[in-house]
Amino acid sequence: MVLSPSRTGAWNTADLVAKDKAHLLHSVSNLHQLQKEGPLVIARGEGVHIWDTDGNRYIDGFAGLWNVNVGHGRRELAEVMAAQAEVMEFTPTFFGLATPPVIELAARLGEMFPDPINHFNFTSGGAESNETALKIARYYWHLKGKPEKIKVLSRKMAYHGIAMGSLAATGIPAYWQGFGPIAPGFVHLTPPYAYRHGEGMTEEEFVASLVAELEETITREGAETIAAFIGEPVQGAGGVVVPPESYWRPIAETLRRHDILLLFDEVITGFGRTGTMFGMQQYGVTPDIASFAKGITSGYIPLGGVGVSDEIFATMAEPNQMFMHGFTYSGHPVACAVALRNLQIIEEERLPENAGRSGALLLDELRSGLADQPHVGEVRGKGCMLIVEVVADQETKAKFDPAQNVGGRLQAATRERGVIVRCSNDGIAIAPPLTIQEDEVRALAGAIVDGVNEVLV
Ligand SMILES: Cc1ncc(COP(=O)(O)O)c(C=O)c1O
Repeated sequence: MVLSPSRTGAWNTADLVAKDKAHLLHSVSNLHQLQKEGPLVIARGEGVHIWDTDGNRYIDGFAGLWNVNVGHGRRELAEVMAAQAEVMEFTPTFFGLATPPVIELAARLGEMFPDPINHFNFTSGGAESNETALKIARYYWHLKGKPEKIKVLSRKMAYHGIAMGSLAATGIPAYWQGFGPIAPGFVHLTPPYAYRHGEGMTEEEFVASLVAELEETITREGAETIAAFIGEPVQGAGGVVVPPESYWRPIAETLRRHDILLLFDEVITGFGRTGTMFGMQQYGVTPDIASFAKGITSGYIPLGGVGVSDEIFATMAEPNQMFMHGFTYSGHPVACAVALRNLQIIEEERLPENAGRSGALLLDELRSGLADQPHVGEVRGKGCMLIVEVVADQETKAKFDPAQNVGGRLQAATRERGVIVRCSNDGIAIAPPLTIQEDEVRALAGAIVDGVNEVLV
């Protein structure tokens, strides 16, 4: 059967739901529940809106999976995709081969990333990018004659993907359960999550405590055994943890002093989401390696990658070395062509700026709308990545008992009001396309406020 992605096509929802239940193994879903309830089948999108197969419209308040930065239904991206596929659908970057789009994209990223990040290797997504970043960190120290520098410092609540290396860097135990043994050599530090870890402290004291923990960890493990520290400038999937403004500088300084590489995972924060092109620019810190994915193509086609510093590249390019890493789709020409056009849209339409402006309005609307809600612990965010954190008790900050199914009820209440956001027992994560406009922000915030008030009485 050939599916026509018609914009007006009549879909047989019941048939699709039955086939879904029979054959589709969903990711990050309660499979038992899905067997009973069935999926929500999305047929098309335009701007910040998506439509299900019955024609119901939703605001996509999660931009797919934090990735549809330029919004849905961009014909120019579909056209670029088709044009490149017609000319040269695939050539690898192995064995010294390249295509014009992969070369142009590497050059473009060299202009966009702060120095000294100037050299790029590509992947198909975020986890592959972090695998690549972690392997390059170890490889760098190997080439430097320090092969014992292999450990990786990460943070609790971090999300770096679910491949075996990135899974070990991820600091959310729910993703580990049943998939062990987890790769050894990863140490998880306290996240810069002031709401739960910084209570009773000033920002200065809280940051000092986190830097002290880092120093103690380095002393305990031995700097000579540590390759890198990996962190999202703003933690995303773990709970949208916006660090104190003064957090990253002393962390980066400490790492540098101990000869430990800093890896920024810009998979969510890259390409405008926080209000600047990259999350690192919010904090004035440049890493040695940066990983990215998601927003580089706004989800129109899978692509990710890593950027490395001039120093790391120079070391890797020393005589008699062979970089024995790469995926079949490291630098897929169709994906790279889409990325180039997508980056042009992000720049021309000043989407980082709009993300900052719309995100600030969304934060305000949610804070004022939920100010008297007794089960909202904190509403926080940076640009267009936000969270409404919910608690069973504001005083003790106790979490809801999972048996109450607060996440499921919030999901139902928000979907009924025509918005798609990520709901869990911890709250509602929100990350709309960066194109979102004022009236859409108000509609999104209003639906979330009403949904929360209906569920949490
Ligand atoms: C910060 C971060 N890193 C890595 C990943 C993994 O990316 P992917 O799912 O494309 O492998 C994600 C995915 O959400 C992410 O948010």
